Amino acid sequence: MPAEHHLPFRFYGRRKARTPTPLGLKTLEEGREVFAVDVPTQPLPNLASLFSKPFDQYTLEIGFGGGEHLLHRASNNPTTGFLGAEAFQDGVLRVYRECFAQQLKNVRVFPDDIRLLWDLLPPASFSSIYVLFPDPWPKKRHLWRRLLQTPTFAKLAELLTVGGTLYCATDIPDYAEQMQTEAAAVSALQQKQKDLLTPFAGYITTKYHQKAIRAGRTAQFMEFEKVA
Ligand SMILES: C[S@@+](CC[C@H](N)C(=O)[O-])C[C@H]1O[C@@H](n2cnc3c(N)ncnc32)[C@H](O)[C@@H]1O
Repeated sequence: MPAEHHLPFRFYGRRKARTPTPLGLKTLEEGREVFAVDVPTQPLPNLASLFSKPFDQYTLEIGFGGGEHLLHRASNNPTTGFLGAEAFQDGVLRVYRECFAQQLKNVRVFPDDIRLLWDLLPPASFSSIYVLFPDPWPKKRHLWRRLLQTPTFAKLAELLTVGGTLYCATDIPDYAEQMQTEAAAVSALQQKQKDLLTPFAGYITTKYHQKAIRAGRTAQFMEFEKVA
């Protein structure tokens, strides 16, 4: 039985789209051994223990989808350790495959719902956290499922180093408003004044963002600094 059945929440997104080929299954197995992070039995003392060596700083990306952004940043920032969380198996497989192909040593993957792990991660440990295009749950009766609400902002603020930044993007106008309102209720976070249409430095367009562009939707990019 998945661990989430013991928890007060359920994951509502898709777990997988395709049945992996035999080679895909092998990569999932080998990738799990090399790159996956399990739910620890004790709170993690530090993030360095997840990797084979310590890094200068650490970045978390939640819901990396196909991993385009995570892989791009990881290959361009070899002195930063990247932890990506994604509950969608097809995306996890793609990231394992690329990590092997590019021999990335600075990526670790939590192949499940980040809420199973985040209470066990060390506070004040990430200099950047990305949540790019979280599931929009546009129907009124599903709005409560949106990930980025005040309790999540409070948790992510706790995980950021002082001076660190939480980067959020969405193509859903009312979700962008909600993100800003709900983050404002967390005193440790301060929204940076910036043009919301300008992407973050070093950003590359994700697969979901490309789909949004094709559908005629405009993305908004918000940055929240951990101030205390
Ligand atoms: C709309 S997609 C966007 C994917 C990617 N960021 C992009 O821009 O292409 C949202 C992703 O977040 C993942 N996700 C949603 N909630 C999550 C959670 N609590 N933990 C880990 N992944 C999550 C979903 O599985 C899905 O792949």
